[in-house]
Amino acid sequence: MITISDLHKIYRLGVVEVPALRGITFSVHRGDFLGLMGPSGSGKSTLLHLLGLLDFPTRGTIRINGIDVSQMDDDERTDYRLRKMGYIFQDYALVAELTVLENVMLTALAQGKSEQESRSSSRDVLDIVGLTNRLDHLPKELSGGEQQRVAIARSMVNRPLILFADEPCANLDTTNSRAVLDQFHTINQELGQTIVMVSHEEWHKEYFHRIISLKDGQIESDVVQTHDRP
Ligand SMILES: Nc1ncnc2c1ncn2[C@@H]1O[C@H](COP(=O)(O)OP(=O)(O)OP(=O)(O)O)[C@@H](O)[C@H]1O
Ligand SMILES: [Mg+2]
Repeated sequence: MITISDLHKIYRLGVVEVPALRGITFSVHRGDFLGLMGPSGSGKSTLLHLLGLLDFPTRGTIRINGIDVSQMDDDERTDYRLRKMGYIFQDYALVAELTVLENVMLTALAQGKSEQESRSSSRDVLDIVGLTNRLDHLPKELSGGEQQRVAIARSMVNRPLILFADEPCANLDTTNSRAVLDQFHTINQELGQTIVMVSHEEWHKEYFHRIISLKDGQIESDVVQTHDRP
């Protein structure tokens, strides 16, 4: 569903050029739970941002369902970002003054759904992530793992084609990290949700179907895992 070919990204800092990606080619398939791994500075976040249409490549092409992204105008890109993609980052970015339910509803309302529709679709996704008994809590009244599950629910409320997650467990202990990874596993298995997740934790590998490892802005390995998750 996303095919990238010979993708390059060069950041320019004044006169200095930083080559963050140097010729990346692969496809993300529907239903993948893909892990992007590699050492710090290898280009993982840069690649995720390009895949998620949050930034532009210096060279190379990105096709989503056959459509060349560089041919999209601003409205089309925005439409993709708002309606067809979901994003989860390491800091959750929940609104502190709003309850769990309201945090998720906000995203649904922002897309023009009615209040009733927003409420019901938000309840549905919060049920999927196991937070039905926390709807009226404020973010500060949740564990880190629960907060991140709210962020997952929020990213899913508009049923995106693809979920992008950049180190969603970076601020979590092992127990909460497992809760979040189990949640990704569930939505991938039961809803067929396509997920692209950045991680540099070795033990997260057991959750991914496929692992692309980056090194110095290039693909070092691309491995499909056949083992069952423990
Ligand atoms: N906005 C920017 N301007 C200049 N250079 C950047 C910018 N963002 C990233 N870089 C550089 O590009 C390279 C890749 O960065 P990137 O953030 O993609 O790495 P990463 O694999 O996500 O690392 P980490 O595991 O630390 O998050 C690094 O050398 C980084 O210093
Ligand atoms: Mg990063």
